[in-house]
Amino acid sequence: MKYLSHLLLSALSAFIPVGSTAGGIDFRTVPLPHSIALTPGDRPFSLTCNTIISAADSLSSEAAMLESWLPIATAPGARPGVISLRADLYDANPEAYTIEIAPDTLTINGASAAATFYGVQTLRKALAAATPAVDGSIDIPTGRIYDYPRFGYRGMHFDVARHFFPVDSVKSYLDMMALHGLNRFHWHLTDDQGWRVEIKSRPRLTEVGSRREGTIIGRTGPGYDGIPVEGYYSQQEIADIIAYAARRHITVIPEIDLPSHMQAALASYPELGCTGGPYEVWQRWGISPDVLCPGNDETMRFLDDVISEVATLFPGPNIHIGGDECPRTRWEECPKCQKRIRDLRLEDRDGVTAEARLQGYVTEYACDVARRHGKRAIGWDEILESNAPDDAVVMSWHSVTGGLEGVRRGHQVIMTPSQYCYFDYFQSPDGPDEPFAVGGLNGVDHVYSLEPVLPDFSDSDASLVLGCQANLWTEYVRTLSHAQYNVLPRMAALSEVAWTAPELKDYEDFRRRLLPLMAVYDSCGYNYARHVVEVAVDFEPDAQAEALVMTCSALPGYSIRYTLDGSEPTPASTAYTVPVSLRSDCVIKVNAFSPEGRPGRATCDTLAITPLTFGICEIVSQPYYVYAFKGAPQLVDGLHGTKYFRTGRWLGFSKSPLDATVTMRRPAQLSSVTFRTVVKPVDALADAASATLYGLPAGSDTWIELASETYPPDDPAADHHISTHTLSFEPRELSAIRLVAEPVAMLPPEHPQGGWPALMFVDEISAR
Ligand code: ACM
Ligand code: ZN
Repeated sequence: MKYLSHLLLSALSAFIPVGSTAGGIDFRTVPLPHSIALTPGDRPFSLTCNTIISAADSLSSEAAMLESWLPIATAPGARPGVISLRADLYDANPEAYTIEIAPDTLTINGASAAATFYGVQTLRKALAAATPAVDGSIDIPTGRIYDYPRFGYRGMHFDVARHFFPVDSVKSYLDMMALHGLNRFHWHLTDDQGWRVEIKSRPRLTEVGSRREGTIIGRTGPGYDGIPVEGYYSQQEIADIIAYAARRHITVIPEIDLPSHMQAALASYPELGCTGGPYEVWQRWGISPDVLCPGNDETMRFLDDVISEVATLFPGPNIHIGGDECPRTRWEECPKCQKRIRDLRLEDRDGVTAEARLQGYVTEYACDVARRHGKRAIGWDEILESNAPDDAVVMSWHSVTGGLEGVRRGHQVIMTPSQYCYFDYFQSPDGPDEPFAVGGLNGVDHVYSLEPVLPDFSDSDASLVLGCQANLWTEYVRTLSHAQYNVLPRMAALSEVAWTAPELKDYEDFRRRLLPLMAVYDSCGYNYARHVVEVAVDFEPDAQAEALVMTCSALPGYSIRYTLDGSEPTPASTAYTVPVSLRSDCVIKVNAFSPEGRPGRATCDTLAITPLTFGICEIVSQPYYVYAFKGAPQLVDGLHGTKYFRTGRWLGFSKSPLDATVTMRRPAQLSSVTFRTVVKPVDALADAASATLYGLPAGSDTWIELASETYPPDDPAADHHISTHTLSFEPRELSAIRLVAEPVAMLPPEHPQGGWPALMFVDEISAR
């Protein structure tokens, strides 16, 4: 006999079969529960297809979801154990739950239905580690799990304006959030490139604003693809999504980004802009100079109507009012805006311009409308640039500085510092193997390292930190599958930052616990990044030993194999056990094999030793910080990069020259020095403008100039490639060389990044 509660019986047609695989259940899930006390040795709870799920009426949705997540029954068991769901735990934290496992009953009890739901998710994930027993049952050792989240606000943002994602995709996104114990869905519904929420009082917002005619190619063109992007959510669809989220204990926070990022609204209602247009739904990325005109009374009525309608549509306690990236150039020129500034007596004062104060006026107005509807406004940290109302919640995306300033001024804050929380950044430096991304580098380990409460926060400061959130902007993300790849498994790292007590966090342990979570991803059909299970290879030059030392790591149970002849590693290749010192030219390939012998992705590096290799390298001005990696020693470590410049092999210089002095291990007869750059016009990567080489003759302390070259500007239409420069000279016995290579100070107008300084990437300086 198998059944749910009586009430579920009516909803779910008679009998609910429950699973049976067996053994190896692991409650050390992601996020890691607060305490796990198992007492193996007692008779375990046996999960079989006879197991009964019993739940009160109010938990019928949780019971149905648990039933759908349990393994499919394959064999009847001896005992009809009961999984009992309750929500009467007494705990100060409303999201706390316990899982009590006794031989005949497994009870998940939450301090609320949401808390019970998190307990159900933990059981679901714990079962993913189980391996089937012969009779098809799963033994769950008796004991007790007690868990609660660290923060009440555990958010994920989703930009559906840059690309539209249909209702089913949004629901899938909510499912992913629920799996990770996240509970706030920040829905970025409007932007320059599309308006996605039906507003009945302003129908043109979706009639006009929900469609753009095409999209710029790449980041900055040239050219547009001419493929329309359109779509919006009707109010009925929104209600459906809100209900779907609520069943997963997720609160939806709609964002109406104002007064900037409004070009789709201006295309719909041009009179709301300072110039009156015409405007198009923007086909470019970046920050449009055209923003709402707060000098116009109709703009303020528009804001009141839109926020009011949104407040009625979304039952949650918060509305996000944006506030980010607002250029004020149009306001400076607009007679209506200038009149508003005069009428409100706004002044340039204390380093805050009158136009910044005008944005403050709009922020206050929007917060007032939200408050009138019983809602509290959240804004990006730019709302601090002028007087934000005390009750506004500050979302810190400019690193943690917005959060710091917000707390200093007594605001509640949500931490979403871009370098840790932007899931549109690359998650691996493997250029050729990664989907196109906005830039940056934000790997799972980096997300995991976020600490939302800053070290110098007092207890009362810390109490203002509501929690943290990660953001998925979708300029370059067009499909759900791509969105999944960008958020998984970084969402797992976020969930542990948001949920798990800091003293329990441990990245290597987390990496191991990701494996069963990935089994859940597989069972859900999610597309996810696997970098964390790949072998990690690190190189460190050892000048003393004149060697490059290779250190590798992989997950426990994985075997690491490597080759030095460029061949693909196999399980029969040399096993890596301790760091390896490499002393001669070779092509190094490393891979890790799972316990079942499944290979990961092999790494490949080339070592080429020249008289400069392992010398002492000093540089005058440091590389641009994003591309500084390990700095100067990399220029003489013998390792050469591929044309993919984020791999860590290349140092990136901008504005100031590469001015490197290399003192060799011993004097050598040289006749040339070579350096290489990466050319990629669309990313502002340009060849050097010039290079000058100096030498220090052996036994002398006077530098002499050996060669000097200037290089023609790159062809703006050039493909992505490596440019090699060899500066030749009469053979000489030298003890040191100095290479000064100048980047292009400003790219010419015909270049795709015209007007910007170039980035010059250099991987190695070698000599013959
Ligand atoms: C933002 O990334 N503009 C909030
Ligand atoms: Zn104006």
